[in-house]
Amino acid sequence: MFSDADAAALYDLLNPWDPDGRSDERFYFPLVMGAESVLDVGCGTGALLQLARERGHRGRLVGLDPDRAALDRARRRGDVQWVEGTAAEAKSGDDFDLATMTGHAFQNLLTDLDVRASLAAIHGTLRNGGRFAFETRHPQARAWEGWTASNPDDVVEVVDATGRELRYWHDVDAVAGDIVTIRGTVAEPDGRVLRVFGESLRFLDVAKLNGFLVEAGFEIEDQYGDWNREPVTASSREIITIARRG
Ligand SMILES: C[S@@+](CC[C@H](N)C(=O)[O-])C[C@H]1O[C@@H](n2cnc3c(N)ncnc32)[C@H](O)[C@@H]1O
Repeated sequence: MFSDADAAALYDLLNPWDPDGRSDERFYFPLVMGAESVLDVGCGTGALLQLARERGHRGRLVGLDPDRAALDRARRRGDVQWVEGTAAEAKSGDDFDLATMTGHAFQNLLTDLDVRASLAAIHGTLRNGGRFAFETRHPQARAWEGWTASNPDDVVEVVDATGRELRYWHDVDAVAGDIVTIRGTVAEPDGRVLRVFGESLRFLDVAKLNGFLVEAGFEIEDQYGDWNREPVTASSREIITIARRG
């Protein structure tokens, strides 16, 4: 009723890349365009690198993601290299100038083991001095409290490419330590459920995050609490990091 390919298409519909409008994309896009070679970890449907190529990036662009349906969508653009795999499986020795992990993909790394293995692998893909730019939601802002069908801002109604009307919202199933388990529901306008997607996300705090980065061999070059590059404060909703391979 609602396939993985439909889910990937819905993702693009709900998250159109717009570096001229969306603040997170305004942050990442110049970094990508200014780097000779880029590895986008957790690239999903590939919009960031596709747009970089479209806007004239001439260097090496590689997108890495474990989700086959998302990658199938990314592959519609053949002048970017698309690789199926997790962050921990990133191949070392590639000497990328920049690695990115956007759209809070970093929060899919749920265990200390996975965070360590992923950061070590990403570190290994970079040249000396190469940078890793990514963001994770700050736990203090408790973003998950807004992920409910009773929050009108969380319920999205769209018409997909085939003309089908869809409603999409989240619910939180559990908050256990720093792991939040959520459900995304796709339904018809009358509420008939087409598909439910379960997902867990980890909310690391600054101290833990930075500990993992340093342990993996990164130096923290910059860390911001919002997309305007303001510092992380007690009211920040994001932890946006640019880490450098030392
Ligand atoms: C919310 S999407 C973000 C996609 C894209 N980066 C963006 O900004 O639109 C999160 C992505 O992380 C990917 N992902 C999940 N676990 C991962 C892992 N262990 N390593 C790399 N990517 C992962 C998912 O398949 C998904 O495509």
